[in-house]
Amino acid sequence: MAAPRGEFTSRFGFLMAASGSAVGLGNIWGFPTNAASNGGAAFLFTYLILAFALAYPALMAELIIGRYARANAVTALRTISSGNKTRLAALLVGFIGIVTVSFILSFYGIVSGWMIAFFFDPIARLLGASQLSAWLTNDAVMRNSLFVVLFMLVTIYIISAGVKEGIEKWASRLMPSLIVILLLLIVYVLTLPGAMDGLRAYLVPDFSLIADPSLLVDAMGQAFFSLSLGVGTMLIYGSYISSNENLPTIGSLVALLDVGIAVMAGMLILPAMYVALASGVEIYDDAGGLIAGPGLIVSVLPSLLTTMGAIGVFVAIAFFALMTIASLTSSISMLEVPVAYAVEHHELERRRAAMLIGSAITVISLVIVFNFDPLFDLVVTVTTEVSQPLLGFAFCIFAAWIWQRSEILEEIKQGCPEVESGIFWKIWPFYVKFICPVAILVVYFQ
Ligand code: PHE
Repeated sequence: MAAPRGEFTSRFGFLMAASGSAVGLGNIWGFPTNAASNGGAAFLFTYLILAFALAYPALMAELIIGRYARANAVTALRTISSGNKTRLAALLVGFIGIVTVSFILSFYGIVSGWMIAFFFDPIARLLGASQLSAWLTNDAVMRNSLFVVLFMLVTIYIISAGVKEGIEKWASRLMPSLIVILLLLIVYVLTLPGAMDGLRAYLVPDFSLIADPSLLVDAMGQAFFSLSLGVGTMLIYGSYISSNENLPTIGSLVALLDVGIAVMAGMLILPAMYVALASGVEIYDDAGGLIAGPGLIVSVLPSLLTTMGAIGVFVAIAFFALMTIASLTSSISMLEVPVAYAVEHHELERRRAAMLIGSAITVISLVIVFNFDPLFDLVVTVTTEVSQPLLGFAFCIFAAWIWQRSEILEEIKQGCPEVESGIFWKIWPFYVKFICPVAILVVYFQ
C-alpha cells in the first residue's frame, strides 16, 4: 500500500506554496530586466494582459487536472485520458515534464548557489574575513560546486518532510519574509539618488514597441516560466488542495501574487540599476542594452552595494536573503514533481525518493558546473524555451480536447457550486481550447 497523500491544511498554506513556486529568480531578475529592455511599461502592460489572458487559463488547467486526479503528472494525465493512444501520449507528456523540471532544477540550483554565496559575502566582510569574501564572490568551480550541493541539501531536506511539514510549513514562513524584505528594500532604494530615473525607465511606456514580436515572445515566455507552467508543478500542488476550495478564486490569487511580486521587483531592480549608474557603475552592455541575467545580479548590484559603505552590507544581506528565499520556494516545487511520481508510481518512501532524486539532480548540476560554457545555456534554452512551451501546449490539449467537459465542471463545482453561472465558466473552456494552444504555438515558432 502506498503512503497516504499529503494535503495543504489551509488556503493560506496553499497560496504561500503555489506563489512561492511561481515567485522565483524569474520574477526578481527576469521580469525587471525584460521590462527595461522592452519599452518599460509597454512590456508591463503586455505582460499583465498575457499573464491573465493566457497563463492564468493554463494554470487553471493544471490545478483542476491535479485536484481531480489527486496524483502525480503521469498518473493524472492518464486518468483523464481514454483510449490507448491518448494514454500513451499522457505517459509521454507527464514523463517529459518530470525530466524537464529536473533539468530546470539542475541549472536553477547552480544560480541559487551563487545567491547563497553572495548572501554569506557581506557577513564575511562584516567579520573582517576578506579572503573568504573574495573566495565567495569569485566565480570558481569549487565555490559553485559547494554551494549547489548546499542548496540542493536544503531543498531535499524540505521535500523529505512532506507536503504539510515541509512545503507548506516552509513556504508559509518564507513567503511573508520575502514580501517584507522586498518592501523594505524598495522603500530604501527609492530614497537614493538616481532611483527616480530607474522608476521612469520602468513605468513610462514606450508604446512604439508594443507591436514588436520580440516583446510579445518575451512577455509570454516570462509569464509561462514565472507561473511554473507546463512541467507539472502546479498540477502536483493542485493535487494537494482540499476538495472544498474554490479553484478559480485561488488560481487567480496565485496569479495576482506572482504578477504583483514581479511588478514590485521591478520597482526595486530598475531604480537600483540607475542608482548604480549615478554612482559610476556600468549598467549597459556592449550592445547598449541594460545588463541583464547573471551579470546584473552578481556584478552590477554587488558593485552598487560596495559603494554604499556600511549600510551596503546590510542591504546586501537583505537582498541575497530575498533571492535565496525566492529560489528555495521554487526549487522545492520542482523537486516535488519527480518525488511525487516516484512515491506514487514506484512506492518509494518519500525520504528515500527525495534523497535519491535530489542527489541525481545534484550530479547533473555538478556536470554543468564543470562544463559550464557548453552546457549551461544549452540546458536553459532546451528546458525553458523548447520543452516548457510545448508541454504547456500539451496540458491545454489534455484539459480541453481530451478530458470530458462534464467532469471538469463537476470537479470545479465541488468547491464552487455556482461556477456554471459565473464568468469563469463562460470564458475559460474556450480559452484553453482555442486561444491558449494557438497562442503558445505562435510564440513557439517565433
Ligand atoms: N516560476 C519560477 C520562477 O519564476 C521558476 C519555475 C519554473 C518553478 C518551473 C517551477 C517550475 O523563477
